[in-house]
Amino acid sequence: MQTVVSGIRPTGNLHLGNYFGAVKNFLRMQDEYNCYFFIADYHSLTTHPTPQDLHNNVRQVLAEYLACGLDPEKSTIYIQSDVPAIAELSMLLGMNAYLGELERTTSFKDKARKQPNNVNAGLLTYPVLMAADILIHKADKVPVGKDQEQNLEMTRKFAGRFNHMYKQEYFKIPQSFNYGEALVKIPGLDGSGKMGKSEGNGIYLIDEPKPLQKKVMRAVTDSGPTEPNSPITEPIQNLFTLMEVVSTPDTLQYFKDKYASCEIRYGDLKKQLAEDINKFTTPIREKIVSIREDEEYLRKVVKMGREKAQESAAQTVEEVRQIIGLKRF
Ligand code: TRP
Repeated sequence: MQTVVSGIRPTGNLHLGNYFGAVKNFLRMQDEYNCYFFIADYHSLTTHPTPQDLHNNVRQVLAEYLACGLDPEKSTIYIQSDVPAIAELSMLLGMNAYLGELERTTSFKDKARKQPNNVNAGLLTYPVLMAADILIHKADKVPVGKDQEQNLEMTRKFAGRFNHMYKQEYFKIPQSFNYGEALVKIPGLDGSGKMGKSEGNGIYLIDEPKPLQKKVMRAVTDSGPTEPNSPITEPIQNLFTLMEVVSTPDTLQYFKDKYASCEIRYGDLKKQLAEDINKFTTPIREKIVSIREDEEYLRKVVKMGREKAQESAAQTVEEVRQIIGLKRF
């Protein structure tokens, strides 16, 4: 069975775009692959979170992914820093990563621009640590969005360089992962574009009913159809797209018909949409809260993941040490 590795940054909360995108893919992958999903807490240190924030964020994302259905019985779910062998592999790979190529990555340049007073070494070597994350389990596939493709390319480069240097095909060259068919792209509420954290247009799984309703009621619309069967404009199509994933087909059809006959009232549409989103997210939200408070369960999940991940990591690092010549006396 092929191996999939994916890292999750412990920042922010899951929104509907994440849910119907990355998370849905994870749920499918865990049935089809040998999956390692980890919370990338080492990586998040580049922005200097406070200890309390860091811990709370790790707990929160872990609870959110578990509430969404990530299953510790099917996948290896762990905290990156629980597996220090990753740091060792990163250090070893770093010996063959060059300053120039690290400086040239777009993510480094972006971050250096965004945090000019904190251009630290961790930011520069981010792709090296990410390569270690992936290579430590000899991943075949890595699900990555557009923004991570360059980092994955660096992983391939480092893996290939290692193989070349030590004259053996030790590391597999990981491929980016994509389920063939396109996922429904979840739009934001601001008229155009997709839902995103940085866009500030997200509907979060943890949003409480009242603020959620407020957000939806403020969604951008237009001045309404003026003649029967006029084409659907983008802001309205976006609301329909959201309905497609949370409402019943009948509800969606009802509002589409109203639109076609120019009788639609956007207030009603939004009210229904808010209600249906709420109906969809409430059970997940309740689960997030109960998991987040369940120390015993979290400890059990994390321990299970740690043990499985450490085993796989220890084997790789031992082999790499041998190959490099760090032989034990
Ligand atoms: N860099 C990824 C992100 O920002 C997170 C990540 C860290 C990752 N290590 C990884 C993703 C390894 C896939 C594989 O989203």
